[in-house]
Amino acid sequence: MTTNMIPVRLRCEYLDNPSGIDAPQPRLNWQLEAVSPTQRSLKQTAYQILVSSSEAGLEEKQGDLWDSGKVLSNQSSHIVYAGSALTSGQQCWWRVRVWDAQDEVSDFSPSASWEMGLLTGADWQGKWIGLQASKPAYDAIDVEPMGKLPGLQASPYLRTTTNLPQAVRKARLYVTAKGVYEVHINGQRVGDAYFAPGWTDYHQRIQYQTYDVTAQLQQGENSIAAILGTGWYCGHVGFWIDGQGNNYQHYGTDPRLLLQLHIEYNDGSSQTIVSDDSWQGALGPIVFSDFLAGETYDARHELDGWDLPTRATTDRWQPVLVEELNPGIRIVAEPDQPIRVTQTLTPQTITEVSPGIFVYDMGQNMVGWVRLQVEGSAGTRVQLRFAEMLNPDGSIYTTNLRSARQTDSYILKGQGQEVFEPHFTFHGFRYVELSGYPGQPTLEALTGLVTHSDTPPTGSFECSNLMVNQLQKNIVWGQRGNFISVPTDCPQRDERLGWMGDAQIFVHTACYNMDVAAFFTKWMRDVVDAQAPDGGFPDVAPRVALKTNGAPAWGDAGIIVPWTIYQMYGDTRILEEHYEAMVRWLDYLHAANPELLWKNKRNNDYGDWLSIEADTPKELLGTAYFGYDALLMSRIARALGRDADAEKYQRLFTAIGEAFTRAYVDEEGYISGGTQTCYVVALQMQLLPEHLRPLAARHLVKEIEKKNGHLSTGFVGVGYLCPVLTNSGYSEVAFQLLNNETFPSWGYSIKHGATTIWERWDGWTTDKGFQNPAMNSFNHYSLGSVGQWLFQYVAGINTDPEQPGYQHIQLRPYPGDDLSYVKAEFMSIHGKIASAWQKDGSTLTFTVTIPANTTATIALPATNNAQIFEGTVPVADADGVAFVQEEEERMLFKIGSGTYCFRVYAS
Ligand code: BGC
Repeated sequence: MTTNMIPVRLRCEYLDNPSGIDAPQPRLNWQLEAVSPTQRSLKQTAYQILVSSSEAGLEEKQGDLWDSGKVLSNQSSHIVYAGSALTSGQQCWWRVRVWDAQDEVSDFSPSASWEMGLLTGADWQGKWIGLQASKPAYDAIDVEPMGKLPGLQASPYLRTTTNLPQAVRKARLYVTAKGVYEVHINGQRVGDAYFAPGWTDYHQRIQYQTYDVTAQLQQGENSIAAILGTGWYCGHVGFWIDGQGNNYQHYGTDPRLLLQLHIEYNDGSSQTIVSDDSWQGALGPIVFSDFLAGETYDARHELDGWDLPTRATTDRWQPVLVEELNPGIRIVAEPDQPIRVTQTLTPQTITEVSPGIFVYDMGQNMVGWVRLQVEGSAGTRVQLRFAEMLNPDGSIYTTNLRSARQTDSYILKGQGQEVFEPHFTFHGFRYVELSGYPGQPTLEALTGLVTHSDTPPTGSFECSNLMVNQLQKNIVWGQRGNFISVPTDCPQRDERLGWMGDAQIFVHTACYNMDVAAFFTKWMRDVVDAQAPDGGFPDVAPRVALKTNGAPAWGDAGIIVPWTIYQMYGDTRILEEHYEAMVRWLDYLHAANPELLWKNKRNNDYGDWLSIEADTPKELLGTAYFGYDALLMSRIARALGRDADAEKYQRLFTAIGEAFTRAYVDEEGYISGGTQTCYVVALQMQLLPEHLRPLAARHLVKEIEKKNGHLSTGFVGVGYLCPVLTNSGYSEVAFQLLNNETFPSWGYSIKHGATTIWERWDGWTTDKGFQNPAMNSFNHYSLGSVGQWLFQYVAGINTDPEQPGYQHIQLRPYPGDDLSYVKAEFMSIHGKIASAWQKDGSTLTFTVTIPANTTATIALPATNNAQIFEGTVPVADADGVAFVQEEEERMLFKIGSGTYCFRVYAS
């Protein structure tokens, strides 16, 4: 006998068959799939996991590393490996089988695997290597069209060769850089990651990547070669704080490579090849490659055969410079998905805006670069400049880029068809200006390559309003363009920093759109690395360019982000890992504000950033976030079983709420400052006594009415605005804000052609044109934090907050005004949840699917005298559906796994 469900999608630490895991006890995860889609209420009652050190052993159903035995549990996520201790490089194959409610057991799943990384500092035998001296680029070559930007440097090319005596059975390459790297073996690029090893505080922690390179090696002569870029390590990142141009070399002056290749031969012997003084280095065609400046590539200086076992040029190769490893800097496995090219875009149009100057429209504000195809004579210089918008005359608008030049130049070698892609730079753009092109360029001359941290898509949302569908697209494009190793504010100007305020307001939306669990696992380590000795979390993580401690709503990301990851994925480890850091942050706030009111303002207090004619008092916002932190900490402590702490923080939260109310709220529920955001934060953060909440909600609605039915919230208020309205019984007002196309609204930017979320409501207006170019990005995700409301309220897909991680799901859709249907899907950690509703005269249809081994409470908008059918039968007779209770205007049912179609006929 087998069960009606099978375990699928086995993952380890959120990743598919990962290599380079350094969690000593990795967590395992699977989903359950019904064998037949019509089956309902499937439950796992027990599981057995086998982990084996060989694939063959696993075939034999032996778990020599771990056999969990039959464990009575419905848990299928975050199962902590509890077998024998794992060693560096250990390969683990695993499978799982499950028992259902009738105690029938399934077949074992197909096998999945993970592989441990290098677990100790002592595993690293290689040394940092680089060029003896790299000269500034403009000494080496004329970059006059760019002007002289300090801090640019040519990319080092590094190589070694080695003779392998026998055929290779298994080979793993461990590699990292101070800077960014690209490795080639025998002329072939290794892996498909870009900008590896990613951005961390290189003074404390540097990530490495692990690659299976077995197939790339051969018996006999082999070459291992690499190119380095400056990246975040010594290239330009952030802004010119003092106009002095010191926004480069944040961590060091020159890029370095650290590499280790472990080879196992067929006869069982092994060999390790490392970066050391046997390598050679040279300058090559990359004149410079910098995130903000762009890349200049002179193909005439290519090093023939630089990555092949036999090289043609010899004279330019010099011995490398070698540096010892610093034991104070941890070298850790990259825990999240690498940055990859995930899509290519073909330009839509090309216009010659002045003689020889062509502007391409990619049709989408995107992040990445373009591939150029060109043919011409040696020395011809083709230039590409990138911009988000156009000037009225059709030329590209670059003033909002500030000092970021976003310019790539390619100098031809003159050998027929040439193809150029930059190596270590990315741009935020919709338009590309091409100049210096020999001949008449065609659309095919350029291809857009979309690049970002490759977090798997998990959400889709569609409805009857095309503008809202475009809004959802813009939100996703904003997320793609800004999740580049860290969640950045913007991808184009001289900033691109891990702004905490932006991340905390958008994280929930981000979790619906893509699987960002591993991404935020990584970034939370950046946040905690950036915590100051006094407990202050930063404004930006990694803490660079701007060294201040975090302002209200910015520093609080240190608590809000792990809390949200816990809600969305049921992850308690992220809470455990950072608990002490969160406590220190809260202590720091408390010590600075003993009267529980945020009196100690700091000059980086941003308030409700970029609100529109509505200044929320900063002291009030600071107090609200202080209270919210205490509330979330009490819940976090409770989730971790730290009950005494939970009580303590609950008391602190209550006391802050009382102080808040005394200081800022009158007996009619008016809040000083009176902005929409004042009411939104007070309600969202539960700071008001119960009797004042409906009054405050009413004032919020009045404030919206005063603005002719428009919002005025900035980064801080915007994410909670529609949820608070909906929770307070004013969903129709939230839908009105959603549907608006007049200024200020989401619809306004869309009406004017936005394909991403703008930084400011008034980034461009019909009256005033462009806002101040000193701060006017057209790809900033914060105002897109309304996405959470679309999934969680409009489509109604939510976890049970008491049981985070979607094993018990709450479905509470809002069939809003002006929409005739909504269709949403969300790939939760337990599998796909789908929710759709449709209006047909007075009939409402709800079609929902929840995965095997989950349950849901569905709250249907209906009164108790409405007729409700499920499929073809009255709901009372439906299989897998149990009535729970009636609430105001809602009928609640509990459902087991499966697909259901409810019809509500209004009486
Ligand atoms: C960034 C923001 C950030 C803000 C702080 C801006 O320059 O682009 O996204 O949150 O500064 O006020």
